[in-house]
Amino acid sequence: MSGHNVWTHKGTFLLAAVGSAVGLGNLWRFPYLTGENGGGAFILIYALTIFAVGIPILIAETMLGRTSRQSPIMGMRHLTKTHKTSRAWESIGWLGAASAFLILSFYSVIAGWALHYTWLMLTGSLVGADAATISAGFDALLASPGLMTLYHTLFIAFSALIVGMGIHKGIESGLRIMMPALFVILIVVLIYGVINGDVRAAASFLFTFNIADLSLEGWLQAMGQSFFTLSLGMGAIMAYGAYMSSEASLTRTAIAVAFVDTAVAMVAGLAIFSLVFGAGLETGQGPGLMFVTLPLAFADMPFGALVGGVFFILVLGAAISSSISLIEPVAAFLVERFDMTRPQAVTIMVVAAWAMGLLTVVSFNIWAEGTIFHALFGRSAFEFIELLTNIFMPLGGLMIALFAGWALTQSEVMKELGTNITWFKTWRFLVRFVGPAAVSFVFLRTIPQVEGYVVPTLGALLIVGVFALSQRLRKSA
Ligand code: PHE
Repeated sequence: MSGHNVWTHKGTFLLAAVGSAVGLGNLWRFPYLTGENGGGAFILIYALTIFAVGIPILIAETMLGRTSRQSPIMGMRHLTKTHKTSRAWESIGWLGAASAFLILSFYSVIAGWALHYTWLMLTGSLVGADAATISAGFDALLASPGLMTLYHTLFIAFSALIVGMGIHKGIESGLRIMMPALFVILIVVLIYGVINGDVRAAASFLFTFNIADLSLEGWLQAMGQSFFTLSLGMGAIMAYGAYMSSEASLTRTAIAVAFVDTAVAMVAGLAIFSLVFGAGLETGQGPGLMFVTLPLAFADMPFGALVGGVFFILVLGAAISSSISLIEPVAAFLVERFDMTRPQAVTIMVVAAWAMGLLTVVSFNIWAEGTIFHALFGRSAFEFIELLTNIFMPLGGLMIALFAGWALTQSEVMKELGTNITWFKTWRFLVRFVGPAAVSFVFLRTIPQVEGYVVPTLGALLIVGVFALSQRLRKSA
C-alpha cells in the first residue's frame, strides 16, 4: 500500500484504530498489571493518563499521519522539511519502529498462549478441571520452549499473511463482526463472574484509590500501559492516520477509540477479578492471570468449552487486529523507502521480530533466571523488553505532542481538527504543556527506581530529546 492510499470507508479508520487499540493489552495486560500493582491506585494513574494525555496525543498522532500521508518515518522526514524544523524530529518515526518491533516480538508469544487455550477449550480438555490442574497446565506450557515457539510462529506467520495481502480485504469486514462479538462474550463472562464470583471484592480492589499502594515503578507501568493500550506513541496510529479520510472527525474518533478501549479493559478487569476473589486466587500472579482464571470459570460453566473456545478465538482476533498494526508502520516504511514489495517488507519485519520473540519464549523457562539481563537490569529479557516499551512509547508520545503542538501551524491544525477555535486552543494547550509535563513528571519520578543500565540508557534518550527540542522550531507560513 503506498502512502496515498485511503481507507475505503470514512469510518474505517475508527474501526482499524479500535482494532489496534483493543487487544491483549486490555484482556491480558491490564488485569495482570493492575493485580501486581495493587489495584485502584494503578487504575487511577492509568485513567488520568488516558484522558488528559492519551486522547490529545491520539489526535496529534492521527493528525501527523493524515497531513503527511506517509509511513511514520518518511512522514516525519517530510514534515520536518515542510516545517523547517530539525531533522532530529524524524526520530519519532525511528523510535516508533523500534517500539513496534519490540512489542510485536513479545505480543506474538503471548497471543500464542491464547492459541493453546483455544485448542484446550475446543477439545474439552479442561471441562470440570480444578484450580490446581489448570495452573499446573499453564506452568507446563511455560516450561516448554518448543510448544511456545510453535504457537509464536503460527501466530506471527498468520499476522504476516494478513498484512502481506493488504489490510482492506479480511480485516475491514472481520473487525465489524469480531469486535461486537468479543464484547458480548466478555459480558457473558462478567455475568458469570457476578453470579459465581465475588464482584464486590473485585470492585473494591479496582476502584479504591490509595495512591500509596503504587510503587514508583508502578507509576511508569501505569503510564506505559495507557500508551500501550491506545497503541500510542509508536507510529501505528500515525500509519493508520495516513490512510484516514480527510472528512472524518479527529476529535470524535479519538474519544470513541479511548472510550471503547477503556470499557473493554474495565469489563475484563471486573470479570477476571470477580473470579479471582471468588476462587481465592492471587491477584498478583503476573502474566498468567487471564490464562489461569478464565479457563477455571469455563471449566465449570454450562457449555463452558464452547463459550471458552469462542472467547479465546475472539482474543486471538483482537490480538491479530493489534499485531497487524504493529507490522504496518515498519512494513510501509520499507516499501516507501526501499521500493520493496509489500510481502518482502512484511517478511523482513516479521522474521526479525520472530527471532527477537525467542527471547521472550525462553524468559519463562530456560532463561528464567541467572542471565545477562538479570545481571545487568535485574529482570528477565521479557521484563526488560516490556520496560523498554514502557519508556519508548510515552517518550514517543511526548515528542509527537511537542511536534504537533509547536511545529504545526494554527491554520493547518484548524483545518485538520475542523472544530471551533476554543477546542483548538484547548487541544493545543493539552499537547503543548499538559501532556509533556505529565509524561516528564512520571519519568522523573521513576528514574531512580529503575535499576541498572536502564538509567544511562534513559539519560541518553533524554539528551537526544533535549537536543531535538533545542533546535528552533520555525513555523512555516
Ligand atoms: N493496543 C494494543 C493492545 O492493547 C497493543 C498495541 C500497542 C498495538 C501498540 C499496536 C501498537 O493490545
